Amino acid sequence: MTVEAEVEALREAIRHHLHRYHVLDDPVISDAEYDDLFRKLEKLEAEHPELVNPDSPTQRVGEAPSSAFEPVTHRQPLFSLDNVDSLETLEAWEQRVVRGLEREASGYVCELKIDGLAVSLTYESGRLVLGATRGNGTVGEDITHNVRTVNAIPLVLRGQAPELMEVRGEIYMPRSAFEELNRRQAEEGGPVFVNPRNAAAGSVRQKDPAVTAGRNLAIWCYQVGFLEGGPPLASQSETLGWLRQLGLPVNPASERVDSRAEVEQYVRGALDQRHGHDYQTDGVVVKVDALTEQDELGFTARSPRWAVAFKFPAEERTTVLEEIRINVGRTGAVTPYAVLEPVFVGGATVTHATLHNEGELHRKDIRPGDVVTVRRAGDVIPEVVGPVLSARKGKRLRKWNMPKTCPFCGNPIVTVPGEARAKCTGGFECPSRLREYLFYFASRSGMDIEGLGYQTVDLLMSNGVIEDPADIFTLSSEVLAGFEGWGEVSINNLLTQIEQAKDRPLARLLTALGIPLVGPSVAKLLTRRFRSIDRLLAARPAELEAIDGVGPEIVASLQAWGADRETRSLIQKLRSAGVRLEDPEPEGGVDDSLAGMTLVITGTLDGYSRDQAKSAAEHKGARVTGSVSKNTTAVVAGANAGSKLAKATDLGIPVLDEAAFDRLLAEGPGALAG
Ligand code: IVH
Repeated sequence: MTVEAEVEALREAIRHHLHRYHVLDDPVISDAEYDDLFRKLEKLEAEHPELVNPDSPTQRVGEAPSSAFEPVTHRQPLFSLDNVDSLETLEAWEQRVVRGLEREASGYVCELKIDGLAVSLTYESGRLVLGATRGNGTVGEDITHNVRTVNAIPLVLRGQAPELMEVRGEIYMPRSAFEELNRRQAEEGGPVFVNPRNAAAGSVRQKDPAVTAGRNLAIWCYQVGFLEGGPPLASQSETLGWLRQLGLPVNPASERVDSRAEVEQYVRGALDQRHGHDYQTDGVVVKVDALTEQDELGFTARSPRWAVAFKFPAEERTTVLEEIRINVGRTGAVTPYAVLEPVFVGGATVTHATLHNEGELHRKDIRPGDVVTVRRAGDVIPEVVGPVLSARKGKRLRKWNMPKTCPFCGNPIVTVPGEARAKCTGGFECPSRLREYLFYFASRSGMDIEGLGYQTVDLLMSNGVIEDPADIFTLSSEVLAGFEGWGEVSINNLLTQIEQAKDRPLARLLTALGIPLVGPSVAKLLTRRFRSIDRLLAARPAELEAIDGVGPEIVASLQAWGADRETRSLIQKLRSAGVRLEDPEPEGGVDDSLAGMTLVITGTLDGYSRDQAKSAAEHKGARVTGSVSKNTTAVVAGANAGSKLAKATDLGIPVLDEAAFDRLLAEGPGALAG
C-alpha cells in the first residue's frame, strides 16, 4: 500500500468510527483504539505534510482566524417557537392548525427540545464551510473555527451531498462531559459552569478552537434552513431521515405520529424520561410533518404556525426567604421581590425571586423568614410559589407590608383601589424607575442599542450623564473615556450603535418611549396613519379613534402623554439630537385603496403564500382577519377552501377567487363592482 492510500484509509476509518459513535450510537471500538488510529494518522501526516488537506480529521483544530465572531446574515432567518405548557394549550395549538388547514394535519413529528445552543451549519458540495450562532435570528456570529472542532459534526457529508445546504441544530454538552469539565475546572481553580447549557455556550463563544475541542461538545440536527440541489423532500420526517443518511446526528427519539392522541402520548413519555438522557431537554417540539401543510400554515412575525414547543413544567425547590425588598419598574409599578438563600433550581442558582404584588403576597401569606417553594421555569424569572407552612411552626414571623415611601426617591407609594400594583409617585425623579425606563428604551424591544445594557445605563445614570432618553444621543467619546474600562473599541462600538439608532423607524421610537398601552402593534398603526410624531401630537381624538385597532383607552393615554410638558420637551431634545421623528413617504405615496375593508383569506392560492397575500392586502390598508363574521367585507378563497368559504356563502359575504383578488389589489374596490 502506498503512503497516500494508507493515509486515506486511516481517515476513512476515523470518519467511520466517529459516525458509528455520534450518529448510529453504536461504537465498535474502544476510545483507546480510536486514539491509536488518530495518532497513527497524525504521525504519517507529520512525515508527509504534502498529504495534509483541510478535510482530514486531524485538521479540526486550527488557529482562530480573523473572521472569528464576524456577523453572518442567515440565508433564512432562524425563527423561534411559540410555547405551550400544558396539554390543554397544546390541544389549542392543534386546533389552530386544524382551523388553519381546514382539515386534520396528515401527521406530526415529535422531537425532544434540546437545551443547548442553536447553530446553523452551511455545507457546500458536502463540505462544511460555515458555522454560525443564531444571534438575533437574522444575523448571527461566525463560529466556524470552533464548530469544526466538534467531532459529532462531519467536515464532509456522506453519499450524495447537495450543492448547498444550511442545516440547523442544537450544540450541547453531554451531562457526563459537563460533570467531568467542572471537576477539572475545580481542580485547576478555573471557573465552574452553572449548567451544561452555559458550558456549551461558553465553549463555543470563546476565541481559542483548542479550548472548544477539549470540551466534548455534541450536536443534534433538526431542521433544514436552505437547500439547493437536494432530493425532493415532502416532509419533516423524510428530512430527518435524509440528514441522518448524510452523516449528521439526528436525535433518535424523534418520531413521526399520525394523530393528535399520539402527540399527547409522546409528550407524556418524554416528560417521564426527562432525566433519562445524557443531555438536557426542556420540552418537546411538535411539527406538522407534511411540507405542503407547513407552507399552507406559514409564519407569524416571530414563529412558524406549523410548530410549537411544549415546555416541561418548572422545577421547584424550597429555600429560606431571607428578606423582602421592592423594585420600581419603568412604569412606576412597585414589585416586591424575595432575597433568597441561594438555591439550585431549574438548572441555575437562584438568589432573587419575584413576589408579583402585595395582594398576592398576603393571599399566599408569605413572610420574611419563611421556608418557601421557589419555581424556575427555563429562562423565566424565578418566583416564590408559596410558604412551606409546616416549617413555620414555633417561629414568630411578622407579616410584611408595603412601605409608605419609596426607598429610592422618598416619594409616597400609593395603591390605586382596584389595581394590583402599587405605584411610586416620584415620576422620573425616582432613580429606580428612570433606570428601568432608560434600560427598556435602549433594549431590543425598544431602540435596540446593543451595548447599552443594564450596567452601562446604571453607570451613566449614577454619574449624572444621562437623565432622559434624549441624553443617550448626545453621549461623546470624551465623556465615556472618563470611565474605567472604557477603551477606544468599546467607546466606538457604543457610539456607532447610538448613531444607527437615530435612524430607527418611527414605530420603534414610539414603542421605546413607553407610552402606556402603546406596544409595537399600536405603534405601527399610529405610524402608518401619521408618519410623524408632530402629526401624531397634533391629532384630534376623533382622528385617533378612527384608526381600526385604536380604542378609547389608547386615545386617552395618547392624549395624556401628548399634553404632558415633559413629553414636549423630550421630543424637542430628541429632535435637536438628530433622532428621526418621521418615516419617509412610501414610494408613490401611501396606498390606502383598500382601507376600511376586512378580508379573510382561505384555501391555497397559486401566486401567493398566505403571508404574502395577507401582507399585500395590508399594505393597501385592508385588515386581514382569521375568521368570517358579518363584519367581513369579502372572503378570498383559493383551492381546497373549506368551512370559511361555507360560512361566507351562508352569510351572503362576497367570495373572491384568486383572479378577482389580483384585480382588487391592482385596481382597488372598484374592480369588484363589475
Ligand atoms: S425547530 C422553525 N427543533 O428551541 C423551527 N428547535 O424556540 C425552529 N430547539 O431556537 C426550531 N430542540 O434552539 C427545533 N428539535 C428541535 C429543537 C429546537 C431545541 C431550540 C432551538 C430554537 C428554540 C425554539
